[in-house]
Amino acid sequence: MRNNTSNFSNIPFQALFNEETILSRVKELGLQIANDYQGKNPVFVCVLRGGVYFFSDLTKAVPIPIELDFIQAKSYTGTESSGNVELIKDLDSEITGRDVLIVEDIVDTGRTLKFLISHILSKKPNSLEVASLLFKEGGEAVGYPIKYIGWNIGKEFVIGYGLDYDGKFRNLPGVFLYSED
Ligand code: IMP
Repeated sequence: MRNNTSNFSNIPFQALFNEETILSRVKELGLQIANDYQGKNPVFVCVLRGGVYFFSDLTKAVPIPIELDFIQAKSYTGTESSGNVELIKDLDSEITGRDVLIVEDIVDTGRTLKFLISHILSKKPNSLEVASLLFKEGGEAVGYPIKYIGWNIGKEFVIGYGLDYDGKFRNLPGVFLYSED
């Protein structure tokens, strides 16, 4: 049964990155980020809801003092981008003059990120960088350098490790290719 994903030993989707592979890449990124932000006390911003697992693993893999905050924008329905981006939840902390790192699940068209970057830049941080677990072909349209990328992928629709299809599959333990049949 395609829609029976409650049994994780029998996930009916093709795996792209399993949990072990993801964790090992996240640990590499964590050390790189820790090195870059040595002595800075940066604010890591989780882009809800898709970024939640990447954010949780990444922040634990960064062995320096950091602060956490959360932001949420909406831009997607099903597998198609609506084109509109709306801010649903803003940051709680004051980030003016701070070093900010946005932590995203995936950059697809780059529209959501472009919106979030301009919103955060308007608060005048000292610096702003982005970490995205996945970067889809064409995401360059965001027009801002993505400093930390887990993997570049093609145009396929992926689910799991925070990524959803219509609100489902976020808790799959790994990244999988979504297919209807
Ligand atoms: P963008 O604005 O087109 O870059 O899309 C960004 C948002 O769309 C991401 O933060 C995800 O929430 C969602 N998204 C884009 N591609 C995928 C995908 O392959 N699987 C699940 N969600 C996706």
